[in-house]
Amino acid sequence: MCGIIGYVGKKNNALDVIIEGLLRLEYRGYDSAGIAYVKDGLLNIEKEKGKIANLKEKLDFNDKSNLGIGHTRWATHGEPNYVNSHPHKVGKISIVHNGIIENYSELKEELIEKGYEFKSSTDTEVACALLDYIYSETNSIEQTIAIFREKARGAYALGIIVDDDYNHLYAVKKDSPLIIACGDNENYIASDVPAILKYTNKYIVLNDGEFAKISADKILVYDENADLRKVEVKEFKGDSNAVEKNGYDHFMLKEIYEQPEVIKATTLPYIEKGVDSLVDNMPDFSKYKKIDIVACGSAYHAGLVGKTLIEEFANVPVTVDIASEYRYKKLFLDEETLVIVVSQSGETADTLAALKIAKEHGSDTLGIINVVESSIARAAHQVLYTKAGAEIAVATTKAYSSQIALLSLIALNIANNKTMKQEEVLEVLKGIRALPTQMQSVLNEREHYKEIAEKIYDHDSIFFIGRDIDYALSMEGSLKLKEISYINSQAYAAGELKHGTISLIEEGTPVIALVTEEKIAEKTISNIKEVKARGAKVILVASENINISGDFYDELILVPDANKLIKPMLTVIPLQMLSYEIAKLRGCDIDKPKNLAKSVTVE
Ligand code: G6P
Repeated sequence: MCGIIGYVGKKNNALDVIIEGLLRLEYRGYDSAGIAYVKDGLLNIEKEKGKIANLKEKLDFNDKSNLGIGHTRWATHGEPNYVNSHPHKVGKISIVHNGIIENYSELKEELIEKGYEFKSSTDTEVACALLDYIYSETNSIEQTIAIFREKARGAYALGIIVDDDYNHLYAVKKDSPLIIACGDNENYIASDVPAILKYTNKYIVLNDGEFAKISADKILVYDENADLRKVEVKEFKGDSNAVEKNGYDHFMLKEIYEQPEVIKATTLPYIEKGVDSLVDNMPDFSKYKKIDIVACGSAYHAGLVGKTLIEEFANVPVTVDIASEYRYKKLFLDEETLVIVVSQSGETADTLAALKIAKEHGSDTLGIINVVESSIARAAHQVLYTKAGAEIAVATTKAYSSQIALLSLIALNIANNKTMKQEEVLEVLKGIRALPTQMQSVLNEREHYKEIAEKIYDHDSIFFIGRDIDYALSMEGSLKLKEISYINSQAYAAGELKHGTISLIEEGTPVIALVTEEKIAEKTISNIKEVKARGAKVILVASENINISGDFYDELILVPDANKLIKPMLTVIPLQMLSYEIAKLRGCDIDKPKNLAKSVTVE
């Protein structure tokens, strides 16, 4: 979703820093890009629909600039075109914005009455006009921002340039991500730290309601009450390599291949000293009688896998909700309920909103988060971090599997000495140690996945079926496929197909069927036979231990056997790989699928 970058400094050229930063923010998803920069005492604005490359063509990098703001826009209010793109300039104020000003219609009416005219359909132009109006009354940008915060409702991270003061960059944040990065005689603002890692790894977190006045050599941060506060400069420890493809054709493929390492890093703190580390390094879950898992997209699918594991192994009831629906349902929250929010980015607006609701109801909250210091990580009572590193491809792979790893460890932690004997727990921990090697062996089958992809990539509709945990995994497999290949795909509980959907099965319709659990294999195989009898082309993904004799599939992918707490992280790999190879054969923009955003910061 929208990306923000800003530069003020004497060392580099603002144009270089901003374009480089925007390219590093590309992964968030966008459909237009723009820049405002000061050259020879004048502010220039360039913007362009489509890729950053289109914007780059309009710029002359011989222009030297010490101040600028840049933006990638993911359209919300108004189509992606030139007028709706950021930066917006009204009067003396230029801004880039991430978020949504919810009361923009009423503000717009008030501003029209005051004589403002609007060219775009955006809420951002209204925010810009509002800032300009307040500034014209107060003549102080500090006061302007303070009043703006009172008047504007919704979420915003803003980078601001004021015509009267080309020595400063201003920033304000509420419920949308923004950091300030600190260089030597130069400073930056950005939606995330990796955007400016080429220049510095030092940064300051801007909290909700705060604003900053930034020059080349000074950063002043004002708190919610507009009082100057002491800043704490942090150091980003992440690997800047993560934002390079390192020889892979796509970030998605690189990230799929990183999974063995990611699972190792994520699980290590809880397994390295056997059961002790599992107990000591996780929260005490013993007081909770019920767990609610809340998340969006793939994180929601990880939650569904977690539910199956926690209920089956730890005997605790779990509900899983899509975060955007959580606020509308009757919530049965109390002190004995733990609410687990799962989020790669830690910035998903709906998940953050759900977390706040859970806190208001007095429940304890636990975040399973990938991005350190993200909004959700800071808001949750406790956090367990996935160690997936920066994930750039919009379609998540390594973050998803690491979320499952932590949910599985939570199940194991609760089960320990309650529903499982220590020896059984130790056996699973041993299995987790062996998991990266098993994952590697599944990854090594790429040629096989390519062959299968070639046989099905030109179909318009592909089904995924499975029962129990395989159904939860089917949902993720189907989402991966539709996200990046644009093939219409549905996941069905295998037993449910005959209650309607089987009418969609035609001669040759690909059905990817998952059978990884022995105790329900027979039933799922019967369902597979039902679709096979109606002409489906069946791609069977089965665990090695399952008896698959019979003539009911066309292609077979075997995954190594493992404990149920471990197996999902193996089963998902062929699904990710098939989606990748199919999307590649269809010539899709795999890392940046159309209309999608990596970090969804609007509700
Ligand atoms: C977006 C992404 C999905 C992701 C979902 C939740 O829709 O495209 O891949 O699963 O957001 O994101 P989160 O950062 O909260 O895990």
